[in-house]
Amino acid sequence: MVATLRSRCVFLGAPGAGKGTQAKKVAEGARLAHISTGDMLRAQVAAGTALGLEAKGYMDAGKLVPDQLIIAMVKARIAEPDAAHAWILDGFPRTLAQAEALDKSLSGASALSHVIAFAVPEAVLVGRLSGRRTCGSCGAIWHIESNPTRVAGVCDACGGALVHRSDDRPEAITKRLEVYRSQTAPLLAYYRDRGLLREVDANRPPEVVFQELLQRMR
Ligand code: AP5
Repeated sequence: MVATLRSRCVFLGAPGAGKGTQAKKVAEGARLAHISTGDMLRAQVAAGTALGLEAKGYMDAGKLVPDQLIIAMVKARIAEPDAAHAWILDGFPRTLAQAEALDKSLSGASALSHVIAFAVPEAVLVGRLSGRRTCGSCGAIWHIESNPTRVAGVCDACGGALVHRSDDRPEAITKRLEVYRSQTAPLLAYYRDRGLLREVDANRPPEVVFQELLQRMR
């Protein structure tokens, strides 16, 4: 059990850096809202909403969903009661326009506490993404080699069926890494210049990364 953290934090990192794995664990223990734009979009796709239908093509191709759609979705989510005091933004912002919109919508006591940058070499990311499987029911994240379930294809946590994300195929992975380098990596300097950036070596076992995050998020 982790003590309650009153922080408003961004997890910034390339696809496969471990943002979702860590955000779920920290949020659960520390009673923070976990706001994952990827999970929110996948829920919209599964529900067949207008936003989901529009987003799906971008996601499957490994491209970013247009800023105006994402910004509106995140602003609405942050305004919900469970996100009143503390949250982790996982996968947002991803462009300069999104970072600026976030700055504008937060101020004073509700401003960002810090930004955690997950550093992992690109060759490691490809292996993590290709082998990832996620539970279609509870969202638990697994890996066929480094974190396998007891029975292949079945979630240990809830018995749900595991899914191979459509954007974890080789062509989409290549595109997502390229998009990260060109559109998201510049945010490292943006937040470093504002004194908000805390870098974590995320190429270590998940439990070691988790313990460091708890220290860095205080
Ligand atoms: P999203 O779902 O956010 O994908 P992502 O950022 O590409 O991140 P991932 O979920 O792939 O990786 P992760 O860092 O969470 O890693 P994980 O913990 O799962 O976005 C998907 C799409 O939605 C985007 O491409 C875009 O189209 C759209 N989208 C979302 N947000 C958007 C935005 N703001 N603007 C525009 N479009 C947006 O771990 C990966 C694997 O590694 C797992 O198998 C795990 O078990 C393993 N692993 C984790 N940690 C470790 C470790 N320490 N050691 C070994 N293995 C590990």
